[in-house]
Amino acid sequence: MRLIIREDPKAVAYYTANYVRQRINEFKPTRKRPFVLGLPTGSTPVEVYWHLVDFYKRSEVTFRNVVTFSMDEYVGLPQSHPESYCSFMHRHLYDHIDLHPKNIHMLNGNAEDLAAECQRYEEKIKEVGGIELFLGGIGPDGHIAFNEPGSSLESVTRVKTLAYETVLANARFFGGDVNKVPKLALTVGVGTVRAAREVLLIITGAHKAVALAKCIEEGVNHMWTLSVVQLHPSAMIVCDEDATLELHVKTVRYFKSIEQVQEQLIGRQNISLKGSISKLTSSDISHQFSAATDPMASSAAGVQVDPSNSDSESSAHDDYSTRPESEDDDVGSLTDSQHSDNGSDTSNADMSSSTNALAASSSDAQCTTGFSGSSVPAATVGSPF
Ligand code: PGA
Repeated sequence: MRLIIREDPKAVAYYTANYVRQRINEFKPTRKRPFVLGLPTGSTPVEVYWHLVDFYKRSEVTFRNVVTFSMDEYVGLPQSHPESYCSFMHRHLYDHIDLHPKNIHMLNGNAEDLAAECQRYEEKIKEVGGIELFLGGIGPDGHIAFNEPGSSLESVTRVKTLAYETVLANARFFGGDVNKVPKLALTVGVGTVRAAREVLLIITGAHKAVALAKCIEEGVNHMWTLSVVQLHPSAMIVCDEDATLELHVKTVRYFKSIEQVQEQLIGRQNISLKGSISKLTSSDISHQFSAATDPMASSAAGVQVDPSNSDSESSAHDDYSTRPESEDDDVGSLTDSQHSDNGSDTSNADMSSSTNALAASSSDAQCTTGFSGSSVPAATVGSPF
């Protein structure tokens, strides 16, 4: 497991969105071999989605051959309700990108037979070849999707009763009234998330610090369902400094040192997106030995990061590749456009693109909210990333 620590939620959002963009571009999805993405709701991913829309507008990524599965949905809340997760996904992402409606999958919390709806979802995931990358957030009680404490670590998509802590946390979206918050949800299971080929979790804020510590410093435990990431062969948590407040200093230093060693002594060019060492050139090896005889000793002592090499996001940002044409690759034209890292381009405030129309015929859970792009969080405009 990798733990990437960034200064604040903005940096976490940029890192995460940039990672998703790179993974999609590297995968080179086609109609026959789409990139299958699991996606969360909640306040944490909002700025991630804003960046993804921004990348799309800049032609740095296309979602034409991406298939999505949302993690969860309230039971009994009309899909047109502004707080339904269907509305949320359209408002923050789907209405602004070129994702095809037939590739959007959401749970229908108003289905007559909820158990059958959950089974349908699991089957659909299998049908498309499984989830390539599951992006997720967590609750302060360590839940992943709506897998509250006590959920089976083998669980699949099902109906779940929300923990009182979650109902309280979500009351902010319902005018602070806990009575208005649905108490049941459909959610992918812990097992569904584990089955994804890669899991990327975003965790920000001091209120999630205990959960992060429980989940990565203690044993795998159904009372902290996120802890299951310890068993996943390809899991990454991206968190901010506040979320690390309950971690041991040693843990924080360890994960920071791993990133520094990879960046400085091994070289970013030799590290695959998923963090493994993919190659090592002879010049890289000589660089290693001239940089330090004992990389871990240097790191423990606090390696001084070369500022020109320290912004992995900005450099990785320039790294995305133009996708080659192939016979069944109908991704359209991606250009290797230059992209400024200051994020100050506000042109994306206008997201009333023609892709809004796509939402109208979604083959899955129908949700046509027709939200305009004005919901892009103002705070993200002028982001320094
Ligand atoms: P949040 O919710 O992003 O709004 O904190 C995440 C969750 O409860 O899973």
